[in-house]
Amino acid sequence: MSRIRKAVFPVAGLGTRFLPATKAIPKEMLPVVDRPVIQHVFDEARSAGIEHFIFVTGRNKGVIEDHFDIAFELDRTLKDRNRASDLAELARDLPMAGTTSFTRQQEPLGLGHAVWCARDLVGDEPFAVLLPDMLHQSPTPCLKSMMDAQAEYGGNFIGVYAVPEDETHRYGIVDVGTGPKSALPIRQMVEKPPQGTAPSNLAISGRYILSPKIFDLLGSQTRGAGGEIQLTDAMVALQQSEPFFAHVFDGRVHDTGTKLGFLTANIAYALDHAELGGELRAALRQLL
Ligand code: G1P
Repeated sequence: MSRIRKAVFPVAGLGTRFLPATKAIPKEMLPVVDRPVIQHVFDEARSAGIEHFIFVTGRNKGVIEDHFDIAFELDRTLKDRNRASDLAELARDLPMAGTTSFTRQQEPLGLGHAVWCARDLVGDEPFAVLLPDMLHQSPTPCLKSMMDAQAEYGGNFIGVYAVPEDETHRYGIVDVGTGPKSALPIRQMVEKPPQGTAPSNLAISGRYILSPKIFDLLGSQTRGAGGEIQLTDAMVALQQSEPFFAHVFDGRVHDTGTKLGFLTANIAYALDHAELGGELRAALRQLL
């Protein structure tokens, strides 16, 4: 497989687990410390070397496109007020012009369908998928270490992490053979196995490097778990003809799609924050 240049961000989900906060605001725009969730995930992809950012959006998600654009009036006002560091921060978070694409999923048919909607924008090359709900906190961005492993071994890669046995039914689960933790050969994958039937406790963490062959399979994929077109089911089909590896993520995964995960992510990222960390630690001690 060749170099990974493009990343797909499925951001069409309604965020019903987070109502009423997400009634008028996309869940991807909720802040973790001082930046929207989607900015954290975009940064992970950009620092891994991704050059083109493809967002699969839906109705009421226009503000994500605005977020990744220059806000002309805001820049002008900050300039007039000599707010140089705020301006620099906005500039740092901005993708280079011409490196983003937006397409719409149109119908909520599942993650597999969302990824399939990016087929023309990705074209015939391997690509990354990052699920914005899942924040991967570590000194080296998760996608970067996956891309390094992929360059070494080739094939398709899936980020995984260990979850408690009683949570396996909420995730895609992989069963692996022996090998290095950065590239464990996958024996079996199953989407949201009923409780007590999971082949392991290694959950798909929402980071993927996939061959473009996945698009044909997604195009003919029937509905799976939850009545949705599942990416995992198409990956199972692709495994007939291509190798798949699990990359055990060496950091902390926060599922910001749940209230507890979102709150924990905020605290974990704030504790790491150069200016806020110390004071927050003291404030938390008082609260507890
Ligand atoms: C999706 C994937 C699943 C993965 C999960 C991570 O499920 O289908 O394999 O483990 O993301 O968050 P969803 O959370 O969209 O139901």
